[in-house]
Amino acid sequence: MRTLAILGGTGNEGAGLAMRWALKGYRVIIGSRAEEKARTRAAEMNAELGADYLTGMANAAAAAAAEIVVLSVPYSAHKSTLSGLREQCAGKLLVDLTVPLQPPEIMAVNLPAGGAAALEAQSLLGSAATVVSAFQNVSAVKLKQLDRDVDCDVLVCADDEAAKALVIELVDAAGMRGIDAGPLKNAVAAESLTPVLLHINRFYKVKGAGIRITGLEQ
Ligand SMILES: NC(=O)c1ccc[n+]([C@@H]2O[C@H](COP(=O)([O-])OP(=O)(O)OC[C@H]3O[C@@H](n4cnc5c(N)ncnc54)[C@H](OP(=O)(O)O)[C@@H]3O)[C@@H](O)[C@H]2O)c1
Repeated sequence: MRTLAILGGTGNEGAGLAMRWALKGYRVIIGSRAEEKARTRAAEMNAELGADYLTGMANAAAAAAAEIVVLSVPYSAHKSTLSGLREQCAGKLLVDLTVPLQPPEIMAVNLPAGGAAALEAQSLLGSAATVVSAFQNVSAVKLKQLDRDVDCDVLVCADDEAAKALVIELVDAAGMRGIDAGPLKNAVAAESLTPVLLHINRFYKVKGAGIRITGLEQ
């Protein structure tokens, strides 16, 4: 099975994905700015899962050790996290699930200077890495309910078709339906939907509104 590094996997969104993939047999490394924090969070997740599935490392070491790197940090940390990882991510697939929120106005769409966080990631890492955008519209609350699939679809955008297919497999393994949503520049649509979902959560007093694409079954 492939080795995945989840940078910022100590946080809400990354932890849920990490545990779901670990349960499906992937080797998962939790990445953090602080190695000790990564090890502690990995140990906590292993305790929750009842087996030693996950390990913890500092972000750079985690990225270097993995075949697929998943970036799960707030947008405010997006550039600083990726800037030092060009070498570690070269020749690899980087799955970016960052939503370019601009707190405190998190229920309004904020388009970053580079058009989308995923496009900025591609330009920060250079053409040696293949960036795939996914998971922006999945609630961490739902991901942490490990005993069930998540009732939502995941838009997957990339310019490399094989990389996109591989990430759609990862989406399916984590208990959701992955949808091919076109080229990487379409990430702007997925990233823009999250503030809409955050508004819906508040308006309807729910915790994990998600999206479904209809019309795919003929
Ligand atoms: N939460 C959700 O429901 C949800 C849903 C969809 C998409 N997302 C997106 O997923 C990403 C992660 O969300 P999250 O809720 O997991 O975030 P989070 O828990 O606030 O942060 C994730 C991790 O990012 C690292 N981090 C935080 N501030 C940092 C900084 N200033 N510099 C470097 N690293 C920093 C921390 O790891 P270390 O301290 O260990 O380094 C933290 O554990 C975000 O882009 C978010 O928009 C979240």
